[in-house]
Amino acid sequence: MKKISVSDIAQHLGQEVELKGWAFNLRSSGSIVFLQFRDGTGRIQGVVSKKEVDAPSWEQAADLTIESSVVLVGTPKEEARSPFGYELDVKTLTVVQKAEEFPIGKKEHGIEFLMDHRHLWIRSPRQVAILRVRDEVVWQLRKFMKEEGFVLTDSPILTPTSCEGTTTLFETEYFDTKAYLAQSGQLYIEATASALGKVYDFGPTFRAEKSKTRRHLTEFWMLDAEAAYVENDGNMDIQEKMIATVVQNVLTECADELAVIERDVKPLLQVQSPFPRIRYDEAVEKLNAAGTKMELGSDFGGDEETVLSKMYDRPVFITHYPKSVKGFYFQPEEGNPERVLNSDLIAPEGYGEMIGGSQRIHDLKLLEKRMKEFKLPRKDFEWYLDLRRYGSVPHSGFGLGLERLVTWICGLEHVREAIPFPRLINRIRP
Ligand code: 4AD
Ligand code: MG
Repeated sequence: MKKISVSDIAQHLGQEVELKGWAFNLRSSGSIVFLQFRDGTGRIQGVVSKKEVDAPSWEQAADLTIESSVVLVGTPKEEARSPFGYELDVKTLTVVQKAEEFPIGKKEHGIEFLMDHRHLWIRSPRQVAILRVRDEVVWQLRKFMKEEGFVLTDSPILTPTSCEGTTTLFETEYFDTKAYLAQSGQLYIEATASALGKVYDFGPTFRAEKSKTRRHLTEFWMLDAEAAYVENDGNMDIQEKMIATVVQNVLTECADELAVIERDVKPLLQVQSPFPRIRYDEAVEKLNAAGTKMELGSDFGGDEETVLSKMYDRPVFITHYPKSVKGFYFQPEEGNPERVLNSDLIAPEGYGEMIGGSQRIHDLKLLEKRMKEFKLPRKDFEWYLDLRRYGSVPHSGFGLGLERLVTWICGLEHVREAIPFPRLINRIRP
């Protein structure tokens, strides 16, 4: 008898098979137990008939509870009336562990209750579908980077300095000194870019975000990419191709999952190159014209990003921000030093900033000047300045927030569902 997964049922119709998984729902009509079964790869209804199974199987079936772990032996057949398409005529049933009363029922639960039970909530079909989309997004991102010639060079999480300012740093003891959890691996992959040309990293990053929004986690995954001899426009070309490719491939590979999540995929089908590129000044004008007041020189908040994103049918790059709202490493625009060569990629449908990217300062003197203005501790950045001493070249890169991308692709209300165990300002459990 073959041991198979539910996802392989179609190839084993009429044959006796063994399935290992969990009973996610139960219904009984005296001498028949209808057992809705899942194994992580799919779902199927098992029919346990008192007449057809041995006595121990029947006893265990009659006594089954939701989320008990079970092993079924039986014969699958097509069943048009079943939402799963197939049914299993069960021959034997063995309970591995009889579950206690499962805390998550069919009734509506509040979000705090679900978050407290995140370790169990992730078993629900919607959460399973989201986690599968996340897996596919990561796979597609890595595949894209590989195909484009980017080399994975992961950056450290424990660092002596900050990359994105000091307001959101997590500090930790590091023997007799201090360390900070990385906010982005950018500075380190600027170094590996001078070794390998085109590089990326992909890992957890940390920000002590003091705001409660639907877009901010304190621990999130970032893909940083960096390429030598690439300027700001070329940097946007890479991002545009990456997002369009990943979104279209995920649409194909995750059609079933997106249907479970009830994502309207029409807006995603539109995500094709080219994406509009709007200068910051023009974006501010557009906002004001649309009745959203914004002063020239200030940064966009979530609301402004939402209004902007709704003006376009695909992601939009906002470029050339004021240098006053960005970090120390941004290359100024030639002849217009108050503006920098950068781009924020804003997702459609109000999902906010997905990627932040820029051309980096490659001139030693200018970088030293900017670091002084930012009062950065020189000794901790000496190695970073070395990159401008030994074969410095124009270079650019970007950082993509994985959970923001997954939230948008899945059409979720909050970024907390886009990661298995979200970390938020008010939550570090489970
Ligand atoms: O725009 P950010 O701050 O850019 C950087 O960190 C650069 N050093 C990246 C680079 O050029 N290599 O962050 C990049 C992206 C944002 O666009 C957003 O998608 C995501 O990281 N992000 C967050 N995602 C979830 N929760 C948070 N608190 C996030 N903060 C940033
Ligand atoms: Mg940003």
